[in-house]
Amino acid sequence: MSSRTSVVVTAALAALVQQSYAASIYVSPTGNGSGTINAPYGSIQAAVDAAKAGDVIYLRAGTYLPTTNVQIKKSGTATSPITLRSYNDEKVILDGEKLPGTPYGVGESLPNKERGILHIEGVSYWYFYNLELINGPYGVYSRDSSHNYYERLSTHDNYESGFQLEGSASNNTVIYLDSYLNRDPRKNGESADGFACKEGSGEGNVLRNSRLWNNVDDGLDLYKFGSPVTIEEVYAWGNGFNRWGFSDFNGDGNGFKLGITGNPPANHIIRNSMAFSNAAKGFIDNGNPGSLTFERNTAWNNGDNGFNMRSSKSTLKNNIAAVNKNAQVSLVSGTKASGNSWDSSTSWSNSSFLSVDSSTLAGPRGSDFRVRASNFLLPASGAAIGATTQAKV
Ligand SMILES: *[C@@H]1O[C@H](CO)[C@@H](O)[C@H](O)[C@H]1NC(C)=O
Ligand SMILES: *[C@@H]1O[C@H](CO)[C@@H](O)[C@H](O)[C@H]1NC(C)=O
Ligand SMILES: *[C@@H]1O[C@H](CO)[C@@H](O)[C@H](O)[C@H]1NC(C)=O
Repeated sequence: MSSRTSVVVTAALAALVQQSYAASIYVSPTGNGSGTINAPYGSIQAAVDAAKAGDVIYLRAGTYLPTTNVQIKKSGTATSPITLRSYNDEKVILDGEKLPGTPYGVGESLPNKERGILHIEGVSYWYFYNLELINGPYGVYSRDSSHNYYERLSTHDNYESGFQLEGSASNNTVIYLDSYLNRDPRKNGESADGFACKEGSGEGNVLRNSRLWNNVDDGLDLYKFGSPVTIEEVYAWGNGFNRWGFSDFNGDGNGFKLGITGNPPANHIIRNSMAFSNAAKGFIDNGNPGSLTFERNTAWNNGDNGFNMRSSKSTLKNNIAAVNKNAQVSLVSGTKASGNSWDSSTSWSNSSFLSVDSSTLAGPRGSDFRVRASNFLLPASGAAIGATTQAKV
């Protein structure tokens, strides 16, 4: 082999090796190196900038306090996603308190690029695992991004929604999210939700086995999102109370707010989910003219109706609405309802349930990451209606 051929072959091999062996890139809050495990980067952004499709960014334990948010603007591929995760499930906190907009003053605007401790824009095929995002101008903010996967994130005490998808967004999966105590002093509570998928469209977005509680506005909000979102095993409670002493309080306090008047019809699917002890309604279409599907959900002890469908000719099967402060349901004519608590003459009270104690549901997750099973809100009669944490239904 000539030396020239040998150089070419070596270069080709090197390229192949680089392509097929994804790099592991390390970051530590005390790092000051080049991204190896022994000399980790000190900045998450440096790792994101260095990452190529297929790479895994490992965050070592501790609290990261960035002064500019993390901008994610490159994509992985379907077969080589880019991963951002805690290393060996070490406890990793991304604290946004030093970022701009935490908070801005009442009525001021938060520029797009400053939104999110993680600002994800125009990208696909990122996987995120086991990160806690606190005190940010949004925790996770994803705009015009698709095919991303988020598992075991905790987003709390942010100065806007904990987790938000916006714009053109398809096939994003969010699973085992815990999002709580998010609030927006800038708007006196008008728009900080636990989970939001707002102002956009795109098929295939899913939220599963997630808990959304004590947020200032709604647990979940699909305001102006024009495509079906699938919601399964999602638990929303305690939302919409003024826990921060805001003047001119604007929190809405619904468990699940599923659209808006003037929306294109969006046929959301909600299964095996619970809305309880929210300030206002459990599940509300909010004027969405679509055909929503509700199967085996429970609305209990909310401050207004359990289910309020004022525009959507929805299909409701085997749901429970009980012990809510106003009429259990308020449904526009044309709604198709069968097998629900309100379709029979049985009257429901707290003693109709095996348990009205939510502490297991609200407590630590199991080793399989799911919320732990309990008897909370299971019908004492044994009837197979309403949501259950006992098993997948
Ligand atoms: C990082 O290391 C470089 C080179 O040793 C040093 O000059 C710099 O001050 C260090 N920075 C921090 C934040 O420790
Ligand atoms: C979303 O995923 C489905 C199923 O894999 C696929 O058919 C569809 O094309 C995807 N949508 C987009 C916009 O990529
Ligand atoms: C039902 O139980 C809950 C939780 O213990 C309690 O807060 C609520 O006041 C009870 N409601 C009624 C009508 O008994």
